[in-house]
Amino acid sequence: MSGAKVLVVDSGGRGNAIAHAFARSCQVKEVFVAPGNAGSATMDKCSLAVPGARSIPQLLEFAEGQEIDLTFVGPEGYLSDGMVDLFQEAGLRIVGPRKEAAILEGSKCYAKDLLRDMGVPIPAYRNFEDPLAAREFVDQFYLQNPGENLVVKADGLAAGKGSIVCSSREEALSAVDRIMVEPRLFGSAGDRVVIERRLHGRELMFFAVADGKSILPLESAMDYKQAFSPEEEVAIRLFNRLSGNPTIDHNPNTGGMGGFSPHPWLDDELRDKIMDRIARPTISGLRQRGIEYTGLIYFGLMISLEDGGREPYVLEINVRLGDPEAEVILPRLETDFYLLSEAILDRDLGSIELEWSRDFCLGVCAISGRVIKSLSSGGGEERPGYPGEHYTNMPIFGLEKVDPRTIVYHNGTAIGLDSKGNRRIFTTGGRVLTLVGRGASLGEARDMAYENIRRIRFNGMRYRRDIGKGYI
Ligand code: GLY
Repeated sequence: MSGAKVLVVDSGGRGNAIAHAFARSCQVKEVFVAPGNAGSATMDKCSLAVPGARSIPQLLEFAEGQEIDLTFVGPEGYLSDGMVDLFQEAGLRIVGPRKEAAILEGSKCYAKDLLRDMGVPIPAYRNFEDPLAAREFVDQFYLQNPGENLVVKADGLAAGKGSIVCSSREEALSAVDRIMVEPRLFGSAGDRVVIERRLHGRELMFFAVADGKSILPLESAMDYKQAFSPEEEVAIRLFNRLSGNPTIDHNPNTGGMGGFSPHPWLDDELRDKIMDRIARPTISGLRQRGIEYTGLIYFGLMISLEDGGREPYVLEINVRLGDPEAEVILPRLETDFYLLSEAILDRDLGSIELEWSRDFCLGVCAISGRVIKSLSSGGGEERPGYPGEHYTNMPIFGLEKVDPRTIVYHNGTAIGLDSKGNRRIFTTGGRVLTLVGRGASLGEARDMAYENIRRIRFNGMRYRRDIGKGYI
């Protein structure tokens, strides 16, 4: 059988969705996923690469040994560690930004300075290395700007959880301490912080693909970052109490609890504005500085609605696709993903016109929620659940009952043996599964996702019930 061999490097639901997109290409014969999860081998043409292959040298050895035609990297960690550089030096074709470009996500302080120098719109900010100076700045800000607030961000990679949005001086001071002072919430990612003015408006994740000189917008997705729906006040308080969080009513941020695509606010006018003021200037500004950005890029934006306008500001840049955004965007892509990847590598994006299905996709994440585990010594240990401390290694039931038209992407799962020696799928992380419903309307997609997620269960399983609510 002729066709290309692809390696997708990712261990989550985004990796399942990327592998699925490659598998739909008639150019592709085989898709290997590494490190992957229990969902990676459930899709047509897809299998796990050698078990345990997760370091960059191991992955390089695999790609060379298997004569992989194209490698696609999902998460930021590998990109920041220079995976693309190493593969390219070995003469392999790999999609993703090189290390010098991945620093846009790897250092928020660097990214802010660069965007400011390029004239890309960003909120007013300051970078700090010294917690005392950061605290002093917070004090002065609140004295001089009554009614305004700040966001405190760890400089380095923090699994998408490094931003603390504050509603008072006390919260901002506590955020500085939690990030910068031992025991530091995000470890060395908190060596420096960005402190920026909190903007109000609508948050929008804007995805695009670049080949170093051209950049093409992708479709977007409405995302749901907070762990609970706003009305789950009791659960929010319980979560904070069990987590020892100082602000008992704060609905914590996660990597994402679900989403849907297309995005209801991203019309052509706003897309053009973002491309003209943000996306193209970023790619050309990098190029002027000798950095060719290739691969996926995602701009975390705040669309300020002040004065009746819709002005986009960059809150952060990520050098990858979002998770779970990929799970609802990629199934709608009708353009061949392998040919798109080839065009990125051949600096030929100008020849591509992306095509999208008119269907809606809606994804709901099943996460590892609160569990009280009984201890052999008697009593029980209670954990608040994702995004806080959570239990893993819970057997998952009911996957076989899911309607085959519903896509089940796995975020954190592995195959193992249960106490009776039966092969089962177990939870391995905070986010466990993303069920994606699809339909000609958002309502149809939503019904499919929720009807099917109810067929699945594992100890502590929880999901938000309001994904897509209010947009039908
Ligand atoms: N869903 C947000 C992220 O992937 O960073």
